[in-house]
Amino acid sequence: MEEMMQVLPVALAVFVLLAAAASLRSRRHCAGNTLRTVPVPATIEVRDPEAARRMIIDHADCFSDHPAVPFPVDLDAGHPKTSSINSAPYGPLWRVLRCNLTAGVLHPSRLAHLAPLQRDAVESLVADLMLAVAARGGRAGAGDGAAVIAVRDALYAAVFKVVARMCFGDGVGERDVRAMQRTLREFFHSGVDARHLATSRLARLLHWRQWRHLVGTRGRLAKVFVPAIAARRQLRRSNASGVRSYVDSLLDLRVPDNDDDEPSNDTVRRRALRDDEMVRLIWEFLGAGTETVVACVEWTLAHLVAHPGVQKKLHRELSGGDQRSFQDLPYLRAVILESLRLHPPVPFILRDVVGLPEIAAATEVGRAVTLPPPDGTPVRFVFMAEDIARDPKAWTDPEEFWPERFLDGGEGEDVSPTPGPKEIRMMPFGAGRRHCPGAGLAVIQAKCFVAALVREFEWTLPATGGGVDHTSTNALFFKVMALPLRACIVPRRS
Ligand code: HEM
Repeated sequence: MEEMMQVLPVALAVFVLLAAAASLRSRRHCAGNTLRTVPVPATIEVRDPEAARRMIIDHADCFSDHPAVPFPVDLDAGHPKTSSINSAPYGPLWRVLRCNLTAGVLHPSRLAHLAPLQRDAVESLVADLMLAVAARGGRAGAGDGAAVIAVRDALYAAVFKVVARMCFGDGVGERDVRAMQRTLREFFHSGVDARHLATSRLARLLHWRQWRHLVGTRGRLAKVFVPAIAARRQLRRSNASGVRSYVDSLLDLRVPDNDDDEPSNDTVRRRALRDDEMVRLIWEFLGAGTETVVACVEWTLAHLVAHPGVQKKLHRELSGGDQRSFQDLPYLRAVILESLRLHPPVPFILRDVVGLPEIAAATEVGRAVTLPPPDGTPVRFVFMAEDIARDPKAWTDPEEFWPERFLDGGEGEDVSPTPGPKEIRMMPFGAGRRHCPGAGLAVIQAKCFVAALVREFEWTLPATGGGVDHTSTNALFFKVMALPLRACIVPRRS
């Protein structure tokens, strides 16, 4: 005991010295870049679908603001502020940015250009998986002509390829696409626990490497995306830019100089977007368009592996003599909806509400939640998308994967991915004014990749392992399978 008491001060002194050294290194790295942690306001979780509908739809005027800094750390601190569509306050800037995306890029008439991009991406995905089968066939617990693979990486590359070309147009080369994908993936899956780092100085001292990585985020993104924006500008000058891309729309966009100015007002002063603002919007487009769709397709495949009967029925629909495009196949739609119901890739839908006590007094909101003390700060509402879509009052056997519920005559036949004003039974794309503008594109993408993967391969459990592990984990804003799906695939065609 005595010995321990002698060693303890020395150990403490060494710890303090190490921490100080780490702090110095971290501060030197952060020079001129004061990264600020963001306090989390009082939070109320909402799990009841009817309460969610009342708030988001009936009281939309109060429930239309997302958190201005959705991340526990303000990556803009020390730099000019940038806004994504998601983080912009409900107001003129948000309206212009959102309208530009929905009308300029995601409008159904524009999505007609998607088919050749998807065909290209699907072909390279199928070729990648065929190579994996050829390389590993007959080993790792698989039978002849089969291979056990983890599909996530190849799928990610394929989905990203489509979204990157929508974003930058045809001019972007394979090498640039790979660099962008690496940078983005590193951000979402770095394993850096920003929430923990935001809690205390000590956490940041102890994990200074992670902190340094976070500090570098803005710079890393700029390094990859600013040259790509410049290249697109150049291509437009030479009139060789081809199909209009998201970056084209951002280069042409004029936003209100002041966020209080209504965009419809002709006297409003407008300005072009700065490069750092475009980087933020591009990052949002690529991240939202890839991470969510990959998560949805992977969850869907996991269920098809666990439910061979559903897979068989889906394959029959896909390979039937039916000349309809995969977009119009009812069972494929039902399978994707059921997957989104059980595993919404964005599990927490957020609204920041100011002046809640007055709102609660004037509305029915107070009945649904326990109110925090009325100190005038914003209150964060977290709508739990998974619980809302598994409500036993709304669904039979809500925990079961049963796509038939979405077919004609089923209990979910009228349910669409984005809820209307009357009822919420699931909300994988959110609801109300801030609902996801990419829902249409997301469903088309998910259908396209699931259809191709089931048409080309049979998906089964590896002979060596147990069942499918449905454990999930949070990757920043998204919920993904904790372990990448490993399945045995057999090409259906020789
Ligand atoms: C399966 C795929 C997707 C899922 C599950 C998903 C889900 C969501 C959710 C839950 C929200 C918040 C909605 C709310 O607060 O009510 C959201 C917002 C958003 N999503 Fe998606 N999303 C997907 C794909 C996409 C795609 C493909 C894009 C565009 C390329 C996109 C762009 C956005 C944007 C810009 C917002 C912010 C909207 C605003 O604040 O007004 N998402 N998404």
